Amino acid sequence: MKLKVLFTVSEAVPYAKTGGLADVAGALPKALKKLGCELVVVMPRYYSIDRERLEHIPGPLGVPMGPMGELWAGLYRDRLAKSGVDIYFIDYEAFYGRSGLYTDENGFGYSDNDNRFAFLSKAAFELCKRLDFKPDIIHSHDWHTAPQAVLRNTRFAYDEFFMQSATVLTIHNLQHQGQFYKGVMDVLEIGWEHFNPYELESMGGVNFLKGGIAHCDALTTVSRKYASEIQSEEFGFGLQEHIKAHSHKLRGILNGVDYEEWSPSTDRYIVAGYDVEDMEGKRECKRDLLNIFGLQDEERPLIGFVGRFAGQKGIELIAGAMERLLHCGANFVMLGTGEKWAEGFFRDVAARYPDRFAVHVGYSDELAHKIEAGSDMFLMPSLFEPCGLNQIYSLRYGTLPIVRATGGLDDTIVNYDAGSGEGTGFKFYEASAEALANTVQWAVNVYRDSREDFDRMRDRAMRLRFDWERSARKYMEVYEDAIKRRRS
Ligand code: ADP
Ligand code: GLC
Repeated sequence: MKLKVLFTVSEAVPYAKTGGLADVAGALPKALKKLGCELVVVMPRYYSIDRERLEHIPGPLGVPMGPMGELWAGLYRDRLAKSGVDIYFIDYEAFYGRSGLYTDENGFGYSDNDNRFAFLSKAAFELCKRLDFKPDIIHSHDWHTAPQAVLRNTRFAYDEFFMQSATVLTIHNLQHQGQFYKGVMDVLEIGWEHFNPYELESMGGVNFLKGGIAHCDALTTVSRKYASEIQSEEFGFGLQEHIKAHSHKLRGILNGVDYEEWSPSTDRYIVAGYDVEDMEGKRECKRDLLNIFGLQDEERPLIGFVGRFAGQKGIELIAGAMERLLHCGANFVMLGTGEKWAEGFFRDVAARYPDRFAVHVGYSDELAHKIEAGSDMFLMPSLFEPCGLNQIYSLRYGTLPIVRATGGLDDTIVNYDAGSGEGTGFKFYEASAEALANTVQWAVNVYRDSREDFDRMRDRAMRLRFDWERSARKYMEVYEDAIKRRRS
């Protein structure tokens, strides 16, 4: 018997992406399918997703939304490239007919995000019925679909259709919890008896993620280190005690990498392919990258950054260390968008030091790949990092990561040891601009003065693999556990 999995998520490549969640949602279902699962993936049809590319499924889908009445969604379907996984799109103009996924042009969250994602969470249940797809597993991701675990135990508790369904919730980022006005209880149609500090209530409002954590049969997050960190005050964002209370069902499973997308030998965005046996192409990629960003000196190490300009990513540390970075003997290229002060700050530095610092404010898949390939090192000084994908991509491209030892960064990167020459990157521990600057300087020195060690690390890094298959097998174990817990 194939395990049937309902996989509901707010973003997935190649359709809509703001961060790593989309990479995961694009790849994990494929890997699960290869292991024999039958999947239905569900996400919103944001209006940036061209419906001409999709197959329309006739007949609207009714979704009861409490005081809003029953709302009727349109339905579309596509098959994820090559794998044949079915992905369904919920179309509802009033919720998803906007330019952003979660926020407006100024970065403010949409004021009806509670309804938008309550709708997605609920629509997935209705879709299952329409498709006559009885899920063994309801797998939800982050706050957006966390209410599903609660819905399974409340609204659908006695629904014959979901009798066999166990729930799994994956936390990709605990900072965002879906904290809303309590009125959304009625929209969710979850009884008010569940509005208490052990389930959905938090600071007088509703917390989607908290509810999901309380109700799911199995809870996962995206690295082992982060699974332990989120039980502490420093990383728990107020939910540490709640998570501790449910830690018996928590497990950390590292994300994998879709190597069809992220391999220097087959990458369609870069000027020259290369691999561990023949690195000539990497030099060409560096030349190309310097050219694009108007930088010159090929001999200087080139350090790249790709990511959201958000506190999480350590941009304050980079800004604080800027003077020293500009004089450490390296060139820098940055790609990202986000907090306005950071966009302005980095643009300003680039204008003042055009010979050694360049930034592209914007979102570009192509540039992200070019930076991975053309840089010598990759900077990721995150304050917290549930998993992080870019440092894993960097390993594959022989672009040694410089990271803060937190979450998935700590789990995936082995610190350079000058004595043995071992390691795959450079780590620092304290979240300070000084520690960051010291570590970048250290990495630059190793590049310059201990080139053999550097090249051996590069070689080692490129041979590592973080396959989705291995992670997907662990999810299968979690699914089995969830089912056992549910049925016992
Ligand atoms: P997070 O999900 O916290 O943003 P991850 O490291 O897990 O961090 O994933 C980020 C993903 O988003 C990576 O695939 C990265 O290449 C991509 N990304 C982030 N910012 C940009 C950007 N400005 N342009 C292109 N890709 C970006
Ligand atoms: C989140 C985290 C990131 C992780 C990604 C995918 O956005 O910030 O660390 O890699 O989700 O799980």
